[in-house]
Amino acid sequence: MNAIQDSSEKGSDAEKRGYVYIIGAGPGDPELLTIKAERVLREADVILYDDLVSIELIARYNAPKIYTGKRKDNHHFEQDAINEEILRHAREGKTIARLKGGDPYIFGRGGEEIEVLRQNGIGYEIIPGITAAQGASAYTEIPLTMRKISSSVAFCTGHPVSKIQVPDTDTIVYYMVASTVYEVLDAIAQKGRNENTAVAIVQNATRYNQKIITGTLGELRKRAQPFYSPALLIIGDSIKQFIEDNWYSKKKKVLIAGDDSSLFDTVEFIKVHFSCKQVEGIDQDWLENEGPLDLDFIDEIYFSSPACVRDFRKHHKTLPKKIVVNTADQSTQAEYTKLFRLSGECAGE
Ligand SMILES: C[S@@+](CC[C@H](N)C(=O)[O-])C[C@H]1O[C@@H](n2cnc3c(N)ncnc32)[C@H](O)[C@@H]1O
Repeated sequence: MNAIQDSSEKGSDAEKRGYVYIIGAGPGDPELLTIKAERVLREADVILYDDLVSIELIARYNAPKIYTGKRKDNHHFEQDAINEEILRHAREGKTIARLKGGDPYIFGRGGEEIEVLRQNGIGYEIIPGITAAQGASAYTEIPLTMRKISSSVAFCTGHPVSKIQVPDTDTIVYYMVASTVYEVLDAIAQKGRNENTAVAIVQNATRYNQKIITGTLGELRKRAQPFYSPALLIIGDSIKQFIEDNWYSKKKKVLIAGDDSSLFDTVEFIKVHFSCKQVEGIDQDWLENEGPLDLDFIDEIYFSSPACVRDFRKHHKTLPKKIVVNTADQSTQAEYTKLFRLSGECAGE
């Protein structure tokens, strides 16, 4: 009897203090979210989201959204301020969805946020997410372990440079390497790894603009090529399983401007959504920082209405000629012709 009373008291206390779900959003593809996370995001009173969380994903949920990212150039939120923001909402008795890229416990600072919740007696749960290494592995066909090739894997950081480690595992995945790729490669070479060791750099894993650069340790150390964030560096023999024509690169990327269309089946296409409406709560600085869609990765585009053509034109003045354009009806086709073809601004015309 006592035990029952205790647990109901705990329940009402937790309600008063709010409740925090620390959620992993996965590496980019919005469909890589767990069913549990999906439910919690639907039921939450407020969503606090970080960098690297897909706009398309958070746009689906109605709760007010607060950006708590930490962009390198323009520090929005320090970790202490994020902790304070979580506590503030929790003290108002809200259910908080704290959404982080990848998995909260892999270079995600989930541990620090939970420490603060523990200290303040706030109830919480942790919902794991697919970490970038797993997303990159599956979407490039580079197994992280493979019988007779790799029986161990380590996740390491390439930032700060002073923390670069080279453990003795068959496969190593380095996070946070965009600006330190060459320091990481040097550290690997200094550790005595063979110049022929296979290396892959995966940018924007699981996203429409995923890009893979492969080579040997020796080759990549000589290239003076810039890399873009987010990027991972993978080393190990299982990279030899990589094929250019992998399942993800084979799919055409179609940009859906406006309402979704069932015209494009998901076996052949990856759908990239362009929302014609402004999504409430999406931080505009963050959006600008994310930049416009990179049309070089797009094969086809679908405009669902004349208004969407106009809105899209505000962000993209031209369309690369290789893109196949589909329109929902005659009036949309007429608007597309007027804005992109008659204006003579279609690239290559
Ligand atoms: C602060 S860590 C967060 C990692 C995250 N918690 C996870 O589990 O994936 C950020 C780093 O994760 C990696 N990362 C995250 N998303 C990525 C993606 N889609 N493609 C490549 N790397 C990614 C990059 O190395 C990036 O610098």
